[in-house]
Amino acid sequence: MKGIILHGGHGTRLRPLTHTGPKQLLPIANKPMSEYCLESIIETGIKDIAIIIGGVGSDKVKEYYGNGGKFGVNITYVEQDEPKGIAHAIRLCKEFINNEKFLVFLGDNIIQKSIVEFTERFKNSNFDSTILLCEVNNPSRFGIAEVKNNKILKIIEKPKNPPSNLAVTGIYLLTPKIFNIIDDLKPSWRNELEITDALDNLLKQNDNISYEIITDYWKDTGTPEDIIHANGEIIKKMDNSFEKKYDKNKNDGKLVIGENCEIDSDVVINGPVIIGNNCKIECGTVIGPNASIGDDTEISKCQIKNSIVMKKCKIHSNVKIIDSIIANNSEIFQKEKSDDGKIFLLGEGSKISF
Ligand code: DAU
Repeated sequence: MKGIILHGGHGTRLRPLTHTGPKQLLPIANKPMSEYCLESIIETGIKDIAIIIGGVGSDKVKEYYGNGGKFGVNITYVEQDEPKGIAHAIRLCKEFINNEKFLVFLGDNIIQKSIVEFTERFKNSNFDSTILLCEVNNPSRFGIAEVKNNKILKIIEKPKNPPSNLAVTGIYLLTPKIFNIIDDLKPSWRNELEITDALDNLLKQNDNISYEIITDYWKDTGTPEDIIHANGEIIKKMDNSFEKKYDKNKNDGKLVIGENCEIDSDVVINGPVIIGNNCKIECGTVIGPNASIGDDTEISKCQIKNSIVMKKCKIHSNVKIIDSIIANNSEIFQKEKSDDGKIFLLGEGSKISF
């Protein structure tokens, strides 16, 4: 089997974070979110993987993943000139896939369950496709499957009146049969070639699509809140990892601290928290619950809760930072103490002083 990761699109809902790079490279627990997709694919034993790139900063994707050597796989890049839809992106991989079955992963989907078993079952089956479904509270935001007596009846994109709350997750097991179906697709109301339409047509053609239900954590990281939530969930599943000298800082919960950090004895850490390498944290800072601090970041005096602070940031402020994402190289300086929580969504290189 082969694999495809979708790493294109404009990431408009996450601006300004996506002004300087693709959303799939935004870090969750200090690692690009698409790396979790790559790891899930690698775990299935797939070695040949295409990454669809396009839009702002696609060179950063190539730079990060290279030819796949450091991950033990072969990575091919396929350029998509415009985000014309998930099905459009998959169609661009026809030559790469050749005649094999394949696994597609949307680069902004985070799943904690291994997909090895699902993939094995599909590999040994005669199904045209297997889709992974997950119950959601807001079905109008997703592709939805109508299921009756263990059979899929219909697959529909973002329905106004959802027939079920079973979202079609962004993990698709497919055969090359999908390519001819995509060739006959018409663009949807959002002017995209929808994978859900392609799957629904495939279903109508052969009635031969199976599904699996994910009951573990799955998230489409479409909004800052989703990313922050996924961040906490991922850290919770990591193993504690920190030098003994930080015992006195840790108040509660999961804690991961990188190398070469300087953390003052009056700093309090409420896990789940991850702190990267070479960080300096001082003057009574309180971190967590649910916070990531990227490499080479310096922080003093503030509280940071339910937030992601990326690499090389400087925060020297009495401020209470909550529900925030602060991109690389940003700086926050503040003179007056403020007790109100502040929410920041700062693109790379932002500077705030108040
Ligand atoms: O996450 C699951 C949902 O993903 C499914 O339930 C929906 O059926 C499916 O259409 C998709 O919905 P979204 O509206 O969330 O898709 P989005 O536009 O965010 O694109 C998903 C990923 O694919 C994202 O990482 C960007 C990438 N992409 C998207 C398009 C449209 C591309 O690489 N190229 C594209 O042309």
